[in-house]
Amino acid sequence: MNSKTLVAYFTKGGASEEYAKVIAETLTANGLAVEIRNLAHDVPDVTAFDTVVLGTGVRMGMVYRRWRKVMKQKAIRDKHLFFFLSSGTAIENPSTAVEKFLRPLVDKYDLKSASLISFPGKTPEKWAKLDGEKETMKLEKAKEWAQKIASQVQDKRA
Ligand SMILES: Cc1cc2nc3c(=O)[nH]c(=O)nc-3n(C[C@H](O)[C@H](O)[C@H](O)COP(=O)(O)O)c2cc1C
Repeated sequence: MNSKTLVAYFTKGGASEEYAKVIAETLTANGLAVEIRNLAHDVPDVTAFDTVVLGTGVRMGMVYRRWRKVMKQKAIRDKHLFFFLSSGTAIENPSTAVEKFLRPLVDKYDLKSASLISFPGKTPEKWAKLDGEKETMKLEKAKEWAQKIASQVQDKRA
């Protein structure tokens, strides 16, 4: 049985890359064979993988176009799917961010089995409130999520 896991991401500000790296490291540490790919370089064919973890940021209310391209691949439908989003909205309202930016795409491409999560993105320096927290990233949340993914993949294999 094929048991390769793809972690692919598209980032503009760097948050999705940091989360993707933590996720890939955690999955690897839990015994999975992981390939990590930056979608800025190429859009991988997902057929070689059985688990696909896809991450993107959002700007001006839109997730990144190249990221959406992977979602459109027919082959993705048979995969064990996990999507994450890095966004400003998720700093205070993670579930709103999921419902606003990820759920409509999952519904559009009819990806019923997907597991969705949002993580707090990076706040551009000029937007950071003077009295606000500058460091908004929560890498430990990505680690926890990846640990759950690893258990699910292992349960499925058993
Ligand atoms: C120009 C710009 C527009 C943004 N627009 C949104 C937005 O519409 N909604 C949101 O939740 N976050 C928004 N953000 C915050 C980003 O989602 C956040 O910076 C995140 O880290 C982006 O992911 P990335 O760093 O992987 O590119 C915006 C950030 C920038 C710089």
